[in-house]
Amino acid sequence: MEKEIQIETMKRSHVSQVWEIEKQCFATPWSKQALIKELQVNRLALYFVAIYNDIVAGYAGMWKIVDEGHITNIAVLPQLQGQGIGSALLERLIEAGKISQLQALTLEVRVGNQKARSLYEKYGFRIMGIRKEYYQDNREDGYIMWKSLSQY
Ligand SMILES: CC(C)(COP(=O)(O)OP(=O)(O)OC[C@H]1O[C@@H](n2cnc3c(N)ncnc32)[C@H](O)[C@@H]1OP(=O)(O)O)[C@@H](O)C(=O)NCCC(=O)NCCS
Repeated sequence: MEKEIQIETMKRSHVSQVWEIEKQCFATPWSKQALIKELQVNRLALYFVAIYNDIVAGYAGMWKIVDEGHITNIAVLPQLQGQGIGSALLERLIEAGKISQLQALTLEVRVGNQKARSLYEKYGFRIMGIRKEYYQDNREDGYIMWKSLSQY
């Protein structure tokens, strides 16, 4: 499986498939227009897609804000989860953060999202705070997680 996953920089031509992933993975998906804006307008944004068997199987992105990377989203098509695609995407974000000399990466995750929490913990993210009722659809709390990229 590992060899069949290609991680590429996200392009406009990937957006329709990424939007499908959004709709299948999230209760409040980003709109197609929001995704296009990320690519064409937001100069802080950096997005990758995972290509598997010629389809967009997952995507992930972050905003580079000064010396921090704020991970906005990571998602894999439900039928392809559990096969290393999320890990490959997160590894690429971490690598990109190091290349850009970011000091740390951060993200928010639903307290009940055990899969995502396990993924982040596997790559060294740690819970550093909580945002009460952060998610508007069900008022779920969000954990704030950080991973240091600093050598010191
Ligand atoms: C979170 C997500 C991106 C992980 O992608 P994935 O391709 O399934 O991840 P991987 O196969 O690379 O697995 C990576 C790690 O995730 C965790 N994980 C994966 N499936 C899991 C499961 N069913 N239960 C618990 N942990 C799980 C494990 O720690 C796993 O590492 P391991 O295989 O060494 O045990 C994916 O589940 C997803 O798209 N979820 C819906 C969207 C979402 O919630 N995104 C996060 C928003 S903060």
